[in-house]
Amino acid sequence: MKATVRAHPNIALVKYWGKRDDALILPHQSSLSLTLEPIHVTTTVEFGAPSDTVELHGHAAKGSERDRVLRLLDQVRAQAGRDLGPAKVVSRGDFPMAAGLASSAAGFAALAVAGRAAAGLPQDTRASSILARRGSGSACRSVQGGFCEWMRGEREDGEDSYAVQRFDAGHWADLRMVVAILDRGEKEVKSRDGMKNTVETSPYYPAWVKDAEAEVPRARELIAKKDLEALGELCERNAWRMHSTSLAADPPLCYLNSATLGLIQHLREQRKKGVPVWFTLDAGPNPVLLTNAAHEVAAEALARACGAVDVVRCVPGGDATLLTEHLF
Ligand code: DP6
Repeated sequence: MKATVRAHPNIALVKYWGKRDDALILPHQSSLSLTLEPIHVTTTVEFGAPSDTVELHGHAAKGSERDRVLRLLDQVRAQAGRDLGPAKVVSRGDFPMAAGLASSAAGFAALAVAGRAAAGLPQDTRASSILARRGSGSACRSVQGGFCEWMRGEREDGEDSYAVQRFDAGHWADLRMVVAILDRGEKEVKSRDGMKNTVETSPYYPAWVKDAEAEVPRARELIAKKDLEALGELCERNAWRMHSTSLAADPPLCYLNSATLGLIQHLREQRKKGVPVWFTLDAGPNPVLLTNAAHEVAAEALARACGAVDVVRCVPGGDATLLTEHLF
């Protein structure tokens, strides 16, 4: 009745931006990401506790944060088809910065895999990915390592909307992602609200959906060939298009700040000088740089020269895995 899982975050090369079903967390388009080490989240779930308790990163979770965890465990209870009793959840991350890189993808992936294991359900990556998706969309891509593709699916019940691993972490061990923390502050508009506003009000949204869906197989081909230059270009293009559709929302949504633009400018200059470095950008001002092992130090230096207060160098990461040591 107790299980512990370690999972890693992921960064999308082709982003997920917008839901066709808010309750089931079903996306309008497919997306493709890379799971990243060394950062991770470890989560222990135990059923049969005296009452439901959720401790996240050393604090008792409250409000919607707690509700999201308990709702996911209700799904586990329904899948187990028996009374598992209240649950105790303890989760800890080694994310070195406050709001630099969202821990929710790794957190919900760890919770889904640990919740199923604690309930005695068999290991099943598809079922775990669907469950993780119900916590946070991007979490479905953190159940497995390497390059994972979240297929949008067609069904209304979401049973065909989950992530599959296209290439494992060893496929392109030389690839690097360098997270540049320019701003540690909480973002003003969370991804969930930002994408909803964009879906509802941006006239560019249908174009985004069509384009992003078409970029996924292209990205897959470039990953197969390990073509860093072409993948870097695709990645930047996709990030710009996600941000463009949000800039066109009402009210407009701008996640970039002057430091972000400064870094992008500097990165382009470095690239002209032959440094193979590209960027992507989630719903916040902190770019993630894409490069190779030979240039990760140069990428970190570039980020620091542009005012990064923290930099995390990441390598392709592995699957969410069960651990024998529990957090309580
Ligand atoms: C910009 O997965 O955090 O990082 O499904 O509402 O929980 P919810 O959103 P979330 O959004 C991630 C958006 C993104 C792009 C991506 O990771 O694909």
